[in-house]
Amino acid sequence: MVLQLVDVHIRNDATGQEVVRGVSFDLRPGAAVGIVGESGSGKTLTCRSVLGILPELFSVSSGHVAVDGRDVSSLSGKEWTALRGSVIGAVFQDPASYLNPSIKVGAQVAEVVRVKKRVSRRAARDRALELFASVRLRDPELVYHQYPHELSGGMLQRVLIAAAVAADPQVLIADEATTALDVTVQAEILDLLAHLRATTGLALVVVSHDLAVVAQVCDEVIVLRDGETVEQGPTDEILFEPRHEYTKLLIEEHLQYGLERFLTPVDVASEVGELEHV
Ligand SMILES: Nc1ncnc2c1ncn2[C@@H]1O[C@H](COP(=O)(O)OP(=O)(O)O)[C@@H](O)[C@H]1O
Ligand SMILES: [Mg+2]
Repeated sequence: MVLQLVDVHIRNDATGQEVVRGVSFDLRPGAAVGIVGESGSGKTLTCRSVLGILPELFSVSSGHVAVDGRDVSSLSGKEWTALRGSVIGAVFQDPASYLNPSIKVGAQVAEVVRVKKRVSRRAARDRALELFASVRLRDPELVYHQYPHELSGGMLQRVLIAAAVAADPQVLIADEATTALDVTVQAEILDLLAHLRATTGLALVVVSHDLAVVAQVCDEVIVLRDGETVEQGPTDEILFEPRHEYTKLLIEEHLQYGLERFLTPVDVASEVGELEHV
């Protein structure tokens, strides 16, 4: 089990209010769990508890998080830093804000590789180029020498995904990672996540306010409302036999826009098959 959340509660210690009240899931290597719910339902705080970056005055008030079998509540700051990147990577909305605008993107990713993998500058550069190819940036050499403002939102998110997987983490958390992108690019990025999962065994936590997004890549879905898990189960069950009214609402919202388009799960099996032939 690479990641385990057991009845996690998160409290705002300033107000005493529990803003997340009971999130549990087990993530096996290569599996994908989705967390869906309206804005403010507690998705990001849940992710931040896993990454050890809860905002000041927020804490896990009960339950626990285990990464790679290890309860994280005892980790020191230094241990957290080591864990982030090497065991768990993360990408968020608005990739541009995570990059330095005055440094070429290749150099920024190479620096992550150099620090996390403790390799020479030259090896880090080569690895960054490999990573750019693996996130399907069309011309890695060209992109390497570009500044953030020269890249589209979709390309920037690919660069951030490359940085997040630079140290070969076992888990990637994508929190609203495609929300700011237009629909076509969003689909490409989700397809990339599914591809990385199929080819490297990376486990995914995909977080979105949009049920179609998590349904596209996840085997299991957790529906959060106002900090509570209202429904949880295999994606097909959630989509086709939703039990909770709130889940039905999330689905109906989409039927108006043509959810079917997104509901064809990415064919992970065929990608694994492809790999075996290489
Ligand atoms: N830094 C913060 N300070 C105060 N309240 C916060 C902070 N971050 C989140 N919250 C509150 O916690 C609740 C859950 O937020 P969040 O996890 O960001 O929701 P989601 O990601 O599902 O939109 C919300 O009511 C939000 O207002
Ligand atoms: Mg959020």
